[in-house]
Amino acid sequence: MRIVYCRHLATATSRGLRPTILQQRRITTLTPRTTEAVGFENATPKNDELSLEDWSQEHEDEISKLASKPLKDLNLTDLIRFGRPPLSPQSLLTSARSTRENLPVRLSRRIVALRNLPFIIVSNPHVSQIFNNYLHSLRSILSFPSSSLTNPLEELKFTEILTDIVKTHSNTIPTLARGFIECRRYATPAEVTSFLDQHLRERIGTRLMAEQHIALHISSTANPEEIKGADGATVELVQDGSTYIGTIDTALQPARLINSCASFVGEICEIRYGVRPQLVIDGDPDVRFPYLPVHLEYILTELLKNAFRASVEAEQTEPIRVTIAKDPYTAGISMRIRDRGGGISPEDMPNIWSYSFTTFREGEEEDALGRFNNSVASAGDGSSIAGLGYGLPLSRAYAEYFGGSLSVQSAFGWGTDVYLKLKGVEVD
Ligand SMILES: Nc1ncnc2c1ncn2[C@@H]1O[C@H](COP(=O)(O)OP(=O)(O)OP(=O)(O)O)[C@@H](O)[C@H]1O
Ligand SMILES: [Mg+2]
Repeated sequence: MRIVYCRHLATATSRGLRPTILQQRRITTLTPRTTEAVGFENATPKNDELSLEDWSQEHEDEISKLASKPLKDLNLTDLIRFGRPPLSPQSLLTSARSTRENLPVRLSRRIVALRNLPFIIVSNPHVSQIFNNYLHSLRSILSFPSSSLTNPLEELKFTEILTDIVKTHSNTIPTLARGFIECRRYATPAEVTSFLDQHLRERIGTRLMAEQHIALHISSTANPEEIKGADGATVELVQDGSTYIGTIDTALQPARLINSCASFVGEICEIRYGVRPQLVIDGDPDVRFPYLPVHLEYILTELLKNAFRASVEAEQTEPIRVTIAKDPYTAGISMRIRDRGGGISPEDMPNIWSYSFTTFREGEEEDALGRFNNSVASAGDGSSIAGLGYGLPLSRAYAEYFGGSLSVQSAFGWGTDVYLKLKGVEVD
């Protein structure tokens, strides 16, 4: 199939101004300092003059070959295999080499999956932008020969490439969402959900693989004095006694994260409705377990947005109740988020896991594109209480990524219980 490459890079607002997306904040601190330090701009790939289209045509066979390689699953045990930072230069190089080996397979799989979409969909400017982003990232990483990963300076240059890749892909979700809304005449909701589900699940792993190496690099090499003023989260990563191993907090306290997410969701709720519901945490709020704060934060924000919205729209004064329990046999936890917001109707229930299914209506906007514009773009900072219809399916993808689960029980006319189970990992 011939692909039309669209060079017009449409702007899409980022989804969700989240309270403490630790990794994102860390990543932005890396770029200016290290770029300057190693003259990274000189390491621009030689074949940069080739247009992306020409480059991808030249590498078509290589991309297909990489995409057909088996995908190495990421698990928490693997992610913490190097132990607590600071890592030795040798361990950092091993981590870099493994990332250099596995990332091209993941990027190529996404390129092939996008290329296999019907022509009319892949030529949509937004979908095409995502496609080009993957090509761009693959070209950057392949231009860095794995054989050169033999010393700390090369490892630093490689980490810069990863940082650039993570940034390039930060707007994937709203951009793809917009593309698929514009193409809704050409694919059924089930087809869109099936593509997006696989795409976004694999994206979780791809992003995590890059972020884990970046975080290990920062916590093993950064000078805490240098970054203290700039980024509290980075200081947390590198300070003595830090509980982090890369992106994983080995002593993550869900209750703390619930409070910070509830305060963020409360703010957007007040902006939308002028009020915010009460929230109570019970069960075992002191529980700690090893997990990725950024994943749990995503899930909690989405679940709380749904519960807050339902409570306020039902004019419910009963608080939302979050019950936390430690799994007595494993390092995992379970959580129930209970609201009295009236539940989900039996007609809507079969659709809640579909990407783009939403019952949210903003003003007169009955059209999906209008809702998209309202909920994502015109919110300015990209934070809205609801409207895209990605919250539940994407939260489930995050929960299931490391063997957890997410399920919804509705008592229509009364309220909703959402059960979240997450498996941690045993850490010495
Ligand atoms: N706690 C809840 N109470 C009532 N309805 C709910 C609840 N959680 C989800 N729903 C229903 O499921 C639908 C899909 O939820 P989902 O979070 O996926 O999308 P959304 O909230 O509409 O948009 P967003 O992408 O911003 O999350 C909602 O529109 C709503 O109708
Ligand atoms: Mg939602």
